Amino acid sequence: MKVRRHKLFLFCSVGISVVSLLYCYKSLQQVPFLQDDQSSLKSLFMFTDVFWGAPQTSSLHNTHNHHRAEQILRQVKHDGKESKVENLVGSDSTDLDGELHKKTYVLEEDLTPYFLHTDTGELCFSEGTRTVKQSNASESEDAKSKLELHKKNNTILVGHTVKERKVVKCVCHQGWHGPNCGVPTVVEHSNLPTKTSLKPRKVPRRIINAININHEFDLLHVRFRELADTVDLFMICESNFTAYGDPKPLTFRHLLLNGTFDYIKHKILYIFLDHFPQGGRANGWIADDYLRTFLTKNGLLRVQNLRQDDVFILDDADEIPFRDGILFLKLYNGWTEPFGIHMRKSLYGFFWKQFGTLDVISGCTVAMLLMVYKGDGILLRRREYFNMPGFRQYENKSGRRLMPWSIGSPVHYAGWHCSWCFKPEGIYYKLIAAQNGDFPRWGDFAEKRKLDYIRELIRTGGWFDDSLPRYPPTDPKEPMFAPKYLLDNYDRYRYLLENPYAKR
Ligand SMILES: *[C@@H]1O[C@H](CO)[C@@H](O)[C@H](O)[C@H]1NC(C)=O
Ligand SMILES: *[C@@H]1O[C@H](CO)[C@@H](O)[C@H](O)[C@H]1NC(C)=O
Ligand SMILES: *[C@@H]1O[C@H](CO)[C@@H](O)[C@H](O)[C@H]1NC(C)=O
Ligand SMILES: *[C@@H]1O[C@H](CO)[C@@H](O)[C@H](O)[C@H]1NC(C)=O
Ligand SMILES: *[C@@H]1O[C@H](CO)[C@@H](O)[C@H](O)[C@H]1NC(C)=O
Repeated sequence: MKVRRHKLFLFCSVGISVVSLLYCYKSLQQVPFLQDDQSSLKSLFMFTDVFWGAPQTSSLHNTHNHHRAEQILRQVKHDGKESKVENLVGSDSTDLDGELHKKTYVLEEDLTPYFLHTDTGELCFSEGTRTVKQSNASESEDAKSKLELHKKNNTILVGHTVKERKVVKCVCHQGWHGPNCGVPTVVEHSNLPTKTSLKPRKVPRRIINAININHEFDLLHVRFRELADTVDLFMICESNFTAYGDPKPLTFRHLLLNGTFDYIKHKILYIFLDHFPQGGRANGWIADDYLRTFLTKNGLLRVQNLRQDDVFILDDADEIPFRDGILFLKLYNGWTEPFGIHMRKSLYGFFWKQFGTLDVISGCTVAMLLMVYKGDGILLRRREYFNMPGFRQYENKSGRRLMPWSIGSPVHYAGWHCSWCFKPEGIYYKLIAAQNGDFPRWGDFAEKRKLDYIRELIRTGGWFDDSLPRYPPTDPKEPMFAPKYLLDNYDRYRYLLENPYAKR
């Protein structure tokens, strides 16, 4: 009996030792991250990294806040159970096509080496860096100090060791700024109040881009091509009801399954809204809001490994952010939230450019989405965020003032808002599917639905109220005329780039 107890004790001791060893090993691995976090503690603006940290450190700093956000995520999940949101969510992630809207998505780390490390420890953003310049006390000629980049293994060789002091500097390509050449022009020329405290992150954030889709499939390809290398997850929500409440086919689902989106399928979470909200027919705004609420809540429920410092961006299908601005959000700490995006405005195609920009509040961190907006995307798009109950509390905990900020500026487009950008048949469909609340509802007028009438609108740039707005002249060669993918496939998308009915 005694011997057996002895054995049990021995066994337990060995077990505990092994666990401790593993724990020590894991802690050791975390050391570099910890050091990074502690140094950035000094700067209040570094909040997201410190506050929520890399996944390894989140429980070590500010456990209280971490738990608070966890709590809210649980609440969102709990609320989901009460409403129909939860009915659509299963825990399985089988490959059955029928289960597409129940799959969960595991967010992975983005391991792309975005920065080059010089041998003196500097970081240069590869894409934005032309050369690495080294100056030293003895060198007089500038030409001598220019060094070639060796990008093969992401190490910049600073070549011939010159004298004592070595100063290594990233020399930026046009369009990139900052000491690390990772700040794009749309941020450099924005109203960001914290420009001087931007720091490259050790671990990139993951970017989630959520949209509701109807029949904007050409613009959907454009979005995917523009953002494919930057966005980690696209949440795409489709309903079998139009915003007006009529039945509609699940075309996106069909295209997703027949291979049309195979190039990006691995980054898509398909969300299916199978009901129409009560009162949505009488008041179209209810239907409109509900689409976004459902998209965000159902989407958040089905993502695993979500981190507080990941970024959530909610767009309309006709709003396409410029990739460089979004990449900046992914790679840097020190910007404030929520953030808007100044978009180039155009009608029927990119050829009818409108004056000014459309500046829509489009995104924030997951922490803010949960703590201020309670996981409801529709609130994110509202301008009165600072009145929301959680806002001051969130600001307080973050230890910094949250100031409004928009990527781009009235003269630096950071995206495109292309309204009614369809062929005439697509415009017809948009008219009849439109929600019942944005009056006058042009789809209710037979003469406005005629394809000939619609073609004439496209030709003249006119509106359904028969007004003829003024437009500045455009040229497909002007900067930011249209997303790159369209310009690279000009013939295929010509109808969006040149007025198809203009007499030449
Ligand atoms: C490079 O060397 C020259 C000559 O010794 C010195 O005057 C200069 O300050 C150095 N430059 C830097 C940036 O250290
Ligand atoms: C990077 O490449 C250089 C030569 O190009 C080599 O000397 C160095 O060892 C390489 N470093 C790594 C980490 O592979
Ligand atoms: C939408 O899909 C749900 C679930 O499959 C179904 O119950 C409902 O009848 C569908 N509605 C329409 C209008 O097709
Ligand atoms: C997918 O379906 C659409 C519409 O039915 C069709 O136009 C397209 O060619 C199909 N794509 C493939 C790859 O089968
Ligand atoms: C913010 O923090 C201060 C002190 O830390 C506290 O007095 C104040 O009540 C807090 N405000 C909110 C809205 O939590």
